[in-house]
Amino acid sequence: MPSSEERIARLMQMREEARLGGGPARIEQQHARGKLTARERLDLLLDPASFVELDALVTHRSTDFGLDEQVFLGDGVVTGHGRIDGRLVFVFSQDFTVFGGSLSEAYAEKICKVMDLAMKVGAPIIGLNDSGGARIQEGVVSLGGYADIFLRNTLASGMVPQLSVIMGPCAGGAVYSPAITDFTIMVEGTSYMFVTGPSVVRTVTHEDVDAERLGGAVTHTTRSGVAHLAAHDEAEALDLTRQILAYLPQNNLEDATRVESTDPIDRRDAALDSVVPDDPAKPYDMHVVIGHVVDNGDFLEIQPGWAQNIIVGFARLGGRSVGVVAQQPAVLAGALDIDASTKAARFVRTCDCFNVPLLTFVDVPGFLPGVGQEDGGIIRHGAKLLFAYCEATVPKLTVITRKAYGGAYDVMSSKHIRGDMNFAWPTAEIAVMGVEGAVNIIFKDRLQAAEVEDAEQERAKLVAEYEAQFANPYVAAARGYVDDVILPSETRPRLIQALEALAGKRDTNPRKKHGNIPL
Ligand code: HXC
Repeated sequence: MPSSEERIARLMQMREEARLGGGPARIEQQHARGKLTARERLDLLLDPASFVELDALVTHRSTDFGLDEQVFLGDGVVTGHGRIDGRLVFVFSQDFTVFGGSLSEAYAEKICKVMDLAMKVGAPIIGLNDSGGARIQEGVVSLGGYADIFLRNTLASGMVPQLSVIMGPCAGGAVYSPAITDFTIMVEGTSYMFVTGPSVVRTVTHEDVDAERLGGAVTHTTRSGVAHLAAHDEAEALDLTRQILAYLPQNNLEDATRVESTDPIDRRDAALDSVVPDDPAKPYDMHVVIGHVVDNGDFLEIQPGWAQNIIVGFARLGGRSVGVVAQQPAVLAGALDIDASTKAARFVRTCDCFNVPLLTFVDVPGFLPGVGQEDGGIIRHGAKLLFAYCEATVPKLTVITRKAYGGAYDVMSSKHIRGDMNFAWPTAEIAVMGVEGAVNIIFKDRLQAAEVEDAEQERAKLVAEYEAQFANPYVAAARGYVDDVILPSETRPRLIQALEALAGKRDTNPRKKHGNIPL
C-alpha cells in the first residue's frame, strides 16, 4: 500500500508529465517552428495565474496501430477556464507536440466538456487551434468527435461569444469548427486553413499552390473572407482576441460592455464639417469620420483587408460598445457588392446576437452593377444584409453623410426597417439614383429634342433642377425618414444622446422557429 507521501509524489509527477505534453524534444521542435506551446499560449491569452486546468489526466483509449505504447496525459489538448480582464472564459488549446495535436475521441470529449460548461454558465469559448486534424489511428471515432464539437459550436452560436485563433495547421473538416464561430484570427506565416491541402489540389485540379497561398492568413483575410484578422505573431493574435472580447458581453442575455469614457461626450469636432468633398464624385476616407466620432478615435476594425468598400468594427460611444458599419467611398465608391454585403450582414448579426448597438454611416451609390455581380448572385447576397438589418433588434443609429441611393438607402439601416435614430448631414443626397443617371432617364425626351448646340446647356439646367429637388436630405427630413439633419461637427454628441435614449430599448421579432435568411 503506497503511503500518502508516495501518492502525493505520484500526482505531482503526473502533473509534471501532463505539463510537458509531448516532451522536451517536441517542445523544442515547436519553438523551432516559430510557435509557442499550448500552455505558453494560454499564459499569454489569460490574466496572470487565472488558468484552471480540467482533464489534465485524460488519455486516449485506442490501442490500434501502436497507440497503446504512446500515451500522453491530457491527450493533446489543454482545456479549462480562466479570466480575461477579470471576466470568465472557457478555453481549449491544441497541443501540436502530442500526435501533431490530432483529435481523438477523448480529446474531443475534453473540448465538448468545456463548451458545455461555457453554455451552462454563459461565458465565452476561445479555441486555440494547432492540429493535424482527425487522429488517423482512431478512424471514425475521431470524425464523430469533430461532429460533437460542430454541434456544440452551432448550439452555442448566438448564445455565448466563440472565438477561434488559428496558430498552426487546421485542415479538412476541422476547419468547420472555426468557421461556425464568431471570429477567426490567424497568425501570418505559421497558420493555414484549407479543406484540401496542396497535394490533393495538385492531383485533382493540377494547380500548383503552396499552403500559404492556398490557406494562409493573407489569403483568408484578403481573398476568401474566412478569417477576420491576421496577426504578425502569436502574441498579437492573442491580444486581438482579448480586444474583441472587451466589446462583447459574456452571453446573449447581458448588455454589451460599458466603460468610463475619457473622451468628453459633448465633444464637437469641426474637422468633420469639411470631410465630404463638394464634388460628389470625389472619394474620401470614411475611417476619418469614424475616428473623429468615436471615443478617443479607437476603432477595432474587423476584416480590414477584405471587401474594403465596406468597413465594419467595434468602437465605443460615451463608453458604450457599438458595432460600426460604414461605406468606404474610397473603394469602389462605397458600392455594395457581393463580398461587402456578406461581410456586413455577418457583422450586423454578430452584433445583434450579443446586444451590441449598431452605428451605420451611409455613403452608398447603390449595388455594384455588372454581369459578374449578377452571375454571382448579388440579389441573394445583398438580401442577406437587408435581412440582417431588418431582423436586428439592438439600438440602431444611422448617419447619412452623402449618397443614399436606391435600394441601398433602404438596406443601410433606414428608418423603414426599424432604424431608431436616423440622421443626415447637410451634404446628404437621398434619392432613387445619382443626378446624371436620373436626368438621362426622366428628361430623355427634352435632351433629345434640344438642338445639338443647346444640349449641354439644357443638361446643366436639368441637372440643377434635379439637384435642387432631390440631391439633399430635406425631402426625407420633411417626411420624418431622417429624424434630423445635423451638423457634421455635432455628430458625436448627437449619437451619444441617441444611444443614451435608446439604452432601455426592447424590441422583438414575431415568434418563430427561426427566420430563413437567404444563404
Ligand atoms: C495522427 C498525426 C496526425 C494525425 C500529424 N500526426 N497528424 N498523428 N493523426 N492526423 C503526427 C505525425 O505522425 C508526427 O508524429 C507528429 O504528429 C508531427 O507531425 P509531422 O508530420 O512530423 O509535422 P509537420 O511536418 O509539421 O506536418 C504537420 C501536418 C502533417 C501538415 C499536420 O502531420 C499532416 O499532414 N498530417 C496529416 C494531416 C491529415 O491528413 N489529417 C487528417 C485530415 S482529415 P511523429 O511521432 O512521427 O513525430 C480530417 C478530417 C476531420 O482531419 C473531419 C471532421 C469532419
